[in-house]
Amino acid sequence: MDKTILPLHVADLTFSVGGANLIDGISFALEAGPRTIVLGPNGAGKSLLLRLCHGLIKPSSGEVTWKGANGSDPARHQAMVFQRPVMLRRTVSANVEYALGLRGISHSDRREKIDEVLSRTGLQKFARTPARVLSFGEQQKLALARAWALNPQVLFLDEPTASLDPAGTRAVEQIIAAIHKGGTKIVMTTHDLGQARRLGDEILFLHQGKLIEKTEAQSFFERPASNLGQAFLNGDLLW
Ligand SMILES: Nc1ncnc2c1ncn2[C@@H]1O[C@H](COP(=O)(O)OP(=O)(O)OP(=O)(O)O)[C@@H](O)[C@H]1O
Ligand SMILES: [Mg+2]
Repeated sequence: MDKTILPLHVADLTFSVGGANLIDGISFALEAGPRTIVLGPNGAGKSLLLRLCHGLIKPSSGEVTWKGANGSDPARHQAMVFQRPVMLRRTVSANVEYALGLRGISHSDRREKIDEVLSRTGLQKFARTPARVLSFGEQQKLALARAWALNPQVLFLDEPTASLDPAGTRAVEQIIAAIHKGGTKIVMTTHDLGQARRLGDEILFLHQGKLIEKTEAQSFFERPASNLGQAFLNGDLLW
C-alpha cells in the first residue's frame, strides 16, 4: 500500500450557512488504527463533519489536512458510504467495476477484485442482478463492497445500518470489522449506542456543531468527560 495519508488534522473547522455556524470551530487529529465513532444528537453536525473531512464540501474557514499525503492526492485513498446508497442502473458486478474504473484500476485487474469483494460480502450470487432490485440491506452491503474494492486507507461511514434489521446490522458490522482488520481506518456515525460500544475505539462527541469531547470509547461510555456527553448517554440531551 502507498504511504498512509494519515494522520488527519482538522483545525478550527467551521462551516456556515446564512450566518449560522453549523460546524463551529472544530479541531482534532485522527491517527491510523483506532475506529472513530462520531456521536451526537440529530442535527449536531455529524454528517457535515464527515463530508468536510472527505472533501465533499468546502469549509467556510479552517483546514482539513492529511499530514501523510505529502503532495499526493488524499482523495484517492478514501471512500465514503452513506445511509442511503446510490446504485447505478447496472448489475451488482458493474457497480463495483465502475468504482474501480474511476480510480484508474486497469481492466485486467478489475475481475479479480470484483470477485473477491463480492464473495467477502456474500453478494457473489447477485453478481449479474441489477443493483437496484436488491433489498435495502443487500444494497448497503454492495455499497460497502464497492468501497472495499478500492482498498481505501480511510473509510467514512454515515449511519451505515440506520435502516437495517438486526441480522442486516450484524452482517454490515462484520463487513466493517473485516475492512478494519485489513488496515483501513474507520470513521463512522451511528445512533445505535450498542453499535458504538461494539465497534468504537474512540468517540468524537458533537453538539450544536461543536466538538464537546474526544474520548477513548470505554471511558466515554463509563465516564464521559462532559456533562453534555452524560446527558446524551442518559437520553436527556435535546437539540
Ligand atoms: N446545506 C445546508 N444548508 C443549511 N443547513 C444545513 C445544510 N446542511 C446541513 N444543515 C443543517 O446543519 C445541521 C447539521 O446537519 P447534519 O446533517 O450534519 O446533522 P447530523 O448530526 O448528521 O444529524 P442526524 O443525526 O439527524 O443525521 C442540521 O441542523 C442541518 O439542518
Ligand atoms: Mg447525519
